[in-house]
Amino acid sequence: MRIAVFAGDGIGPEVVGEAVRVLEALDLPGLDLIEGDVGGAAYRKHGHPLPAETLEIARSCGAILFGAVGDFDLDHLERHLRPEQAVLGLRKELGLFANLRPATVFEGLEDLTTLRAEVASTIDLLIVRELNGDVYFGEKGRRTTPDGRREGYDIMSYAEDEVRRIAHTAFTAARGRGGKLCSVDKANVLETSQLWRDVVIEVAAEYPDVELSHMYVDNAAMQLVKNPGQFDVIVTGNMFGDILSDQASMCVGSIGLLASASLAEGTFGLYEPIHGSAPDIAGQGLANPMATILSAAMLLRHSYQLEAEAARIEAAVAKALTAGVRGGDLGGKAGTREIGDAVLANL
Ligand code: IPM
Ligand code: MG
Repeated sequence: MRIAVFAGDGIGPEVVGEAVRVLEALDLPGLDLIEGDVGGAAYRKHGHPLPAETLEIARSCGAILFGAVGDFDLDHLERHLRPEQAVLGLRKELGLFANLRPATVFEGLEDLTTLRAEVASTIDLLIVRELNGDVYFGEKGRRTTPDGRREGYDIMSYAEDEVRRIAHTAFTAARGRGGKLCSVDKANVLETSQLWRDVVIEVAAEYPDVELSHMYVDNAAMQLVKNPGQFDVIVTGNMFGDILSDQASMCVGSIGLLASASLAEGTFGLYEPIHGSAPDIAGQGLANPMATILSAAMLLRHSYQLEAEAARIEAAVAKALTAGVRGGDLGGKAGTREIGDAVLANL
């Protein structure tokens, strides 16, 4: 079990530290954790947010446990040197095309959402976001229009195989959950989306047991706060998925609790909390490590098929929450180490 540990920037090292303690406590045979530098931390040390050494470590491992990248002090750098390029580069270089972002309300935390508790308590959904294509990775640049105006452009495109692959991931996920899949696009305006929709419908023929629906992204944003309980699995492109997954996380009211998996074909994956580097509270022992600990659980489940161990971690976190152990993000006072200790005790 060779696992890369890329803690990154801001609160990354603190929260990853607790997740590592949890992994080590499980006595997994052959567990070998290899650290590597990413993000602003890597830029400061090696002059690049995703150094070749780091990529090499990633390639030699079965999975990556990731913290966060992002550092306001480096936002002036050219785009290819900014901390965010570490995660974009890993996604692209390692073919991490499927991002799974579950959003569920933990028992007893219904009061934390900005939605009415009775609406929020119905949320149990999974966003499957495509990660390798779309406007994120299309040709981008600056140019001058014929009449001399500065112009920026980012090309949005999806090839049919890219859509087919993520559609299969989403249909399979829906099959293992509530059996419902909603594909989100903007097919009333975008040609990219029309192709997306056509291909999703083609793939649906192989999953007659999954109920497929389609929704425009603007309506999906509205439905997520109006009646989130209607969703089981949502599949969408890179850009829409970026936005909707942040929205879904706030609907459950606890960004410090949400884990995510970015999967390649096969079992390789990168696992990270969906919150960012939170530079405002970095280094103070205040960050809630639960999302990272839950990401480690996803890692055991998806990359190593260790369902029992994953469930054990999830139960330990749930138990700590029920017992009232809450970080600042949940309106509580528990610090990073204290939360880690509580989860370990329950484990
Ligand atoms: C995310 C983040 C990234 C993204 C950034 C850090 C590049 O917002 O994982 O959702 O836009 O994909
Ligand atoms: Mg995002």
